Amino acid sequence: MIRVGIILGSTRPGRNGEAVARWVHDLAVKRGDAAYEVVDLADFELPHLDEPQAAATGDYRHEHTRRWADKIASFDAFVFVTPEYNHSFPGVLKTAVDFLYAEWGNKAAGFVGYGVDGGVRAVEHLRHVLAMLGVATVPAQVTLSY
Ligand SMILES: Cc1cc2nc3c(=O)[nH]c(=O)nc-3n(C[C@H](O)[C@H](O)[C@H](O)COP(=O)(O)O)c2cc1C
Repeated sequence: MIRVGIILGSTRPGRNGEAVARWVHDLAVKRGDAAYEVVDLADFELPHLDEPQAAATGDYRHEHTRRWADKIASFDAFVFVTPEYNHSFPGVLKTAVDFLYAEWGNKAAGFVGYGVDGGVRAVEHLRHVLAMLGVATVPAQVTLSY
């Protein structure tokens, strides 16, 4: 069965993202044609990028990177749940993306953005970054205001 990771891109205490990701998950599991799992960045406690080699080499020296890589490699597709911070997506999500390379590539992604303006600029920036990694993105997106 296709495995879809719902990436919760916010780690802020009191974040709205947890409820949004749960809502996405609850809706998704009703489909029954894929397996869905919420991936909470807060559970991985990634530091600022601290790998000496570029992620494209796959030469991961740190246990936290290997743990993150194993999780992302286990999915065929993703739904990114992201708030908008200062017209972009959160730095913690950018770091989580930057830590890996092959684990993202040749997979598909959809988006649920949220924020004052529905997270549209955050999702646009994220699309741009994922294009570099060979992620095929779904044009339609969910926009939630707060
Ligand atoms: C640092 C910061 C910057 C923000 N910048 C924007 C912004 O540029 N545009 C917007 O629509 N909302 C912005 N917001 C509002 C958030 O998108 C909104 O509060 C969202 O629910 C926060 O998600 P979270 O609770 O999961 O962290 C910002 C919030 C924070 C904390």
